[in-house]
Amino acid sequence: MKTNKAETPRLFEVEEAAPKAGEISEDEKPSLETTTLWDYPRQSYGKTPKGDNKFQGVTPAFVIWNLVQRYTEPGDLVVDPMAGSGTTVDVCKEEGRDVKGYDLNPRHPEVIQNDARHIPLPDESADLVFIDSPYGDNVDYSDHPDCIGKISCEDELFYDELEKVVKEAYRILKPGKVMGWLIGDQWVKKTFTPVGFKLYERFVKYFETVDLVCVARRGQSSHTGVWHYRAKKFNFYLRGFKYLFIMRKPTPSASKKAATKVKWAKYK
Ligand SMILES: C[S@@+](CC[C@H](N)C(=O)[O-])C[C@H]1O[C@@H](n2cnc3c(N)ncnc32)[C@H](O)[C@@H]1O
Repeated sequence: MKTNKAETPRLFEVEEAAPKAGEISEDEKPSLETTTLWDYPRQSYGKTPKGDNKFQGVTPAFVIWNLVQRYTEPGDLVVDPMAGSGTTVDVCKEEGRDVKGYDLNPRHPEVIQNDARHIPLPDESADLVFIDSPYGDNVDYSDHPDCIGKISCEDELFYDELEKVVKEAYRILKPGKVMGWLIGDQWVKKTFTPVGFKLYERFVKYFETVDLVCVARRGQSSHTGVWHYRAKKFNFYLRGFKYLFIMRKPTPSASKKAATKVKWAKYK
């Protein structure tokens, strides 16, 4: 039977295809992401740099921009306790948000030296916390003895120390506000460590899950022909993405509601 072309539903066509977040000109802003797969060919956007793209651990500025747009209003306070080269600071200032960036080893004039396990801010004062933490001891961030990036992710201590940061993020966030945490897994010497899932187990002790995004890893030192060859020859995979966990601090009314529900269920 012949199908009438005009009547065939065109499932994959949209009226106006939005530009992809990474395909923007210098003075445009990134697009708001609508799926849980984010992929950026560049670290930053716009005319001014965001963070330092020569720093090995730098965060894609698009990730922070998207969280800031979704979960904050102009004038809100955004906190990054492991701010490194200050990508969060630069993004937030351009977007008219208040911002506090801390790091053990600051690489930006506005990032203040501080250990993320003790954030010098009052309880319930932040509207968004963003963290791109070390995900093991694979990157040499600094000589500072308290750097969590000196602990192997194969050691439970790594998660215990990061949980102290999770608790601080929880303490400083206003109820109902969001924490975004970017982290990758590890495959080293034939051993896979699910760093993201292991840390997620710590998050859910305090936070509700809003969503989980996969952020494609580009510009990795392992994205070379030699590494792709080794991955095939020795039958392993190179890490292709990081997790962006989007977690919400529950509101007291939400927990109260849940508690009431349980009580009533008892008497049904
Ligand atoms: C992945 S980098 C952050 C990158 C940053 N978002 C940027 O765009 O430049 C992780 C950072 O965690 C910092 N760090 C490690 N242990 C820390 C601790 N105990 N307190 C504060 N910062 C810490 C490191 O110094 C490093 O700068």
